[in-house]
Amino acid sequence: MKPMDVFEAIAWVLAGILFINSLRGLSSQETARRGNGFGVVGMALAIGAILISGRTDHLGALIGALAIGATVGGVMAQRVAMTSMPEMVAILHSFVGLAAVLVGFAAYLDSAGEGGGAALGIEIWLDVLIGSITFTGSIMAFLKLRGSVSGRPLLLPGRHAFNLIAFSSSLALCVPFVMATGTEGLPYLIVMSVLAGVLGVHLVAAIGGADMPVVVSMLNSYSGWTASAAGFMLKNNLLIITGALVGSSGAILSIIMCRAMNRSIWNVIFGGFGAEPPKSSGNAPAAPVGDVIATSIDELAEELANAKQVVIVPGYGMAVARAQHAVKQLVDLLNKRGILTRFAIHPVAGRLPGHMNVLLAEASVSYDIVLEMDEINGDLPQTDVVLVVGANDIVNPAAQTDTSSPIYGMPVLEVWHAKRTVVLKRSRGVGYAGVDNPLFVLPGTRMLFADAKVGMEQLVAKLSA
Ligand code: TAP
Repeated sequence: MKPMDVFEAIAWVLAGILFINSLRGLSSQETARRGNGFGVVGMALAIGAILISGRTDHLGALIGALAIGATVGGVMAQRVAMTSMPEMVAILHSFVGLAAVLVGFAAYLDSAGEGGGAALGIEIWLDVLIGSITFTGSIMAFLKLRGSVSGRPLLLPGRHAFNLIAFSSSLALCVPFVMATGTEGLPYLIVMSVLAGVLGVHLVAAIGGADMPVVVSMLNSYSGWTASAAGFMLKNNLLIITGALVGSSGAILSIIMCRAMNRSIWNVIFGGFGAEPPKSSGNAPAAPVGDVIATSIDELAEELANAKQVVIVPGYGMAVARAQHAVKQLVDLLNKRGILTRFAIHPVAGRLPGHMNVLLAEASVSYDIVLEMDEINGDLPQTDVVLVVGANDIVNPAAQTDTSSPIYGMPVLEVWHAKRTVVLKRSRGVGYAGVDNPLFVLPGTRMLFADAKVGMEQLVAKLSA
């Protein structure tokens, strides 16, 4: 073994360990920052090792591409709004898919005539197949999340038969491709890429906009598997390890999100499998009957001041209004008065996994008062005031009671069991799932109609007076 090979092997092992620790760190908010750091160091080590290993004759082009990519990525990450993060992740996955397709074609043309054997042929095939599905599927997800394409699922008749035929034809073409000599297999590879690309678009088009973040997480998993296939193709162990880590963690995250939203993972993987076209009438959930009771800042301030236990439920509206800093000020004020104040976090509150945790961490809220849904639901009946800040679907009792509701079966925060529930939002309007919320008309509920930030700031001013 040459010294450079030994150096590379050591660098790969170290980078692999750093990536594993990175994922470990990202699994909890206390360690997430450290986890990110491990990932950055691991990636720097991997790139550095490649640059000095002498594997490439085009060092200048490689460094130039790295500089352009890093600049574009850095600017995008600086500019992106938190609420647009799923869109950005989707477009980044499309780049991974496209890179896999290009690397697959390059590896094929590079190895043509050298007789890489059936194993290399299959590796190239898998890399391009998954890469092409990931590329076009991610672009479709990006367009749906942006609203450039309708969020309604495209449920064409015979779509499952189409998917099956497209997928099996893509696999079947692998046989003549592997048996071809020289570059004779190229037409098969091109036809398969186009077929897989159409399949990617069709699979994602069949899934409703509400499930798009799960799709993005699933595409993240696919991008990992395609990187792993590329690792086999390029004989790069680190790419195999990293791809497998991304592939499996993305799949686990997708399953967790599906459970939290009461969705079927098979529906997401097989492009709307089991989903029915929306019925135009007869099956709509009944609109909640009754009037809402509005409250005021003064009334709410008094109720909070007299409470012993308060729970705050943040939702998408808190993120949009950027109300987290005012919410933190409220918590500090209540704590000063000896009122036990905690947060209840629904696993899919907001628009991306951990959305609320990130915002609360940004406002320096202590982690030990931030509780998961399962940890806090049992405490809600003893809670004097639950303050729902810009949340809707995650506190909708219809998820437990109305079998015709699209969110029926989704686990929710049972805020209606508290002695008083106050919902701070701008109107009676619906949330992401587009369904009415009977919580608003329950006798124990009060509505505070305001922008979350404005309302919280007024509340803080009142309580500090
Ligand atoms: P939503 O159900 O979407 O409700 C958010 C509410 O915020 C809206 O009803 C809106 O009411 C209010 N709002 C918007 N801007 C506001 C502002 N400036 N001030 C005050 N209120 C404002 O949010 P949620 O309860 O957090 O539930 C999340 C939803 O997203 C679920 O349906 C979930 O399945 C879905 N989802 C989540 C994820 C992840 S991973 N988190 C992924 C995909 C989908 P007004 O317009 O009346 O103010």
